[in-house]
Amino acid sequence: MTTSTGTAGGRRTGGIEVRPVAGHIGAEISGVDLAADLDDAVVGEIREAVLRWKVVFFRGQRLDHAAHVAFARRFGEPVVLRRRGRAPPPDVPEVETTADRLELGGRFGMDHDEWPRRRRHTLLRGWHCDHGARVDPPAATILRAETVPPYGGDTTWSNLAAAYAGLSAPVRAFVDGLRAEHRLGVGYQPRPGDDAYVRHLLGHQIATVHPLVRLHPETGERVLFVNGYYVEQIEGLSRAESAAILQMLLEQAVRPEYTVRFRWEPGSVAFWDNRATIHLAPADTAHLAFPRIMHRVMLHGEVPVGVDGTPSEPIPGSRPGHW
Ligand SMILES: [Fe+2]
Repeated sequence: MTTSTGTAGGRRTGGIEVRPVAGHIGAEISGVDLAADLDDAVVGEIREAVLRWKVVFFRGQRLDHAAHVAFARRFGEPVVLRRRGRAPPPDVPEVETTADRLELGGRFGMDHDEWPRRRRHTLLRGWHCDHGARVDPPAATILRAETVPPYGGDTTWSNLAAAYAGLSAPVRAFVDGLRAEHRLGVGYQPRPGDDAYVRHLLGHQIATVHPLVRLHPETGERVLFVNGYYVEQIEGLSRAESAAILQMLLEQAVRPEYTVRFRWEPGSVAFWDNRATIHLAPADTAHLAFPRIMHRVMLHGEVPVGVDGTPSEPIPGSRPGHW
């Protein structure tokens, strides 16, 4: 049996406590061992907290790869990754490590300093949802920290439902009916001369027309479905109009009041709704000599639908995106 009682700004059910940490987004959940066999009530509480607070944090967890995947499976179907590098544990293809992404840059002749720099050359470009150029971006991501630097390396998330609600009524009405092209590689700053990553992008296009305002499939909220990483162009607008409006919407999306920043410790886990948030990976550790090893499991997501019910569509000629 579970009982709910009020605590100081938090909510306690059975042994678990959900304590919000910022005004619009983020809650820390304590009193639960994610490696244990969780009962349905606890899973329900966590699911509700993810939907309400968009990202939830757990500390001091002792998950290994198999337990990480088992926990994820309580909330959806984990994405099985095509092997991208040598780093993923071969027997657990649902788990991706940060080393994979460093290796990805290495495949194109870049070290781990140059790789993020070329993909993040403006203030807003680094903000993204995971795999947002796919027609069915993951519903959620569960990221766990194994080794973190003693300082630096924080991740920040923003609540796109709150950002939408914070727009003025005329702008909400304007953006409600719009759609935008999302494409892998937007904002990437090519290397001079031959660039292996550009060649890769041309051969592996992943591009989708998504609604600019997405109806959340579980909460029914309207979500400002923008990010700096994939959104290329708003359909039907001129290049200049689109650029100006996207800039305005992105600035809205990442206003500090809609964000939360998390300081990782070994054993920390962040679980976010990838349909209602964007996040910013840290850019303040590349010059430090400290390792940062993280493991990620994503859950399969739905094809987004707009306010009028129109679903996202892959752009002809592009690939739907493979795992
Ligand atoms: Fe990400």
